[in-house]
Amino acid sequence: MLDLILTGATLPDGRTGQDIAIKDGRIVEIRPAIAVEAMETIDATGRLVSPPFVDAHFHMDATLSLGLPRLNRSGTLLEGIALWNELKPLLTHEAVVDRALAYCDLAVSQGIGAIRSHVDICDDRLLGVDALLEVKQRVADYLDLQLVAFPQDGYYRDPTAAANLERALDRGIEVVGGIPHFERTMVDGAASVRALCELAADRGLLVDMHCDETDDPMSRHVETLAHETHRLGLQGRVTGSHLTSMHSMDNYYVSKLIALMAEAELSVIANPLINILIQGRHDSYPKRRGMTRVPELQAAGLCVAFGHDCVMDPWYSLGSGDMLDVAHMAVHVGHMSATDAMADAFQAVTSVPAQIMHLPGYGLEPGCNADLVVLQAADPIDAIRTKANRLTVLRRGRVIARTPARQTTLDLPGRPAMVGPER
Ligand code: FE2
Repeated sequence: MLDLILTGATLPDGRTGQDIAIKDGRIVEIRPAIAVEAMETIDATGRLVSPPFVDAHFHMDATLSLGLPRLNRSGTLLEGIALWNELKPLLTHEAVVDRALAYCDLAVSQGIGAIRSHVDICDDRLLGVDALLEVKQRVADYLDLQLVAFPQDGYYRDPTAAANLERALDRGIEVVGGIPHFERTMVDGAASVRALCELAADRGLLVDMHCDETDDPMSRHVETLAHETHRLGLQGRVTGSHLTSMHSMDNYYVSKLIALMAEAELSVIANPLINILIQGRHDSYPKRRGMTRVPELQAAGLCVAFGHDCVMDPWYSLGSGDMLDVAHMAVHVGHMSATDAMADAFQAVTSVPAQIMHLPGYGLEPGCNADLVVLQAADPIDAIRTKANRLTVLRRGRVIARTPARQTTLDLPGRPAMVGPER
């Protein structure tokens, strides 16, 4: 007997009328009309059923701190960094843990099953590191949390960052971060990329750097990141996050750069909500969009995911843990309105970031973990359009979140009262 069966589901690849059979926390079969008895049945007829959303770029040490110790009045990146440095000495272990757990609750309710969070190591107490390591353990039964050692104030620019980064890795942080465009010079930035990639190679770790998060068309750190990845044999293990400078680069140079990135099998994470809000701030009109060249990078075969980056913190006062909101913005900013491009945008918040994070057992095939989301949507494009309700969230075959279907009753003059159209 099965533990659970979902019936009549539509899958992200377009298959309809599929039953999904689950036993011992894993998917055992997917096909129409599975006639095996199950302890529980979920009717998913006509609903999109997807593996969970994955947010491969987030800052959980800062999340939900909006207003502490004050608001970011200008809404700019630089005031955000200044504000974070005002807040950092005031942080307590308990407060960071409580806010992170509250965000994990929100994320799970939104169907997120895994988050890669950068954690600022430029604090000699390593308070954020210890707090998020505790959170990682406490949420492990319902959310995969992967942590990146992130030298927010610069690997070389901050005097103790290099030592703190190694201390953070020693404590169990599993990905090497960086921020080369924030070092004092382009030369220091390139040196930081080299040193951090060597550190990752020595320790057998993944790399995910904030890279070229500027409007400067001459920022060249992703070129160095591709070169170091290739030199050290780290293909498929290195991610460039943001890469907003690519938006502003010369087209001829980009034609060379994307080939180098493809050769190094770099992964890319754009953060559309933050990029469209933060970049282009020195422009008059026209104002640049600031998101990296997503369709061109996808066309070259690179893995491109979309991250949320921030929710209610010094840099971004909005956000709701909704990866469909993130995908919706990406579609607009990136002119990704072709049918295939919109379907790709759904993959960019599900299977692609799962691949970037090297998540084991993720997917919608027999043998994969029974981690699923039933959406109040007919297909991936419909889900992005409506930022669809997450009706049921499953983790290892167990329901961990339920939300009632969204429904409006219309009572219009001259027409009989009726249930409104599904949104
Ligand atoms: Fe970030």
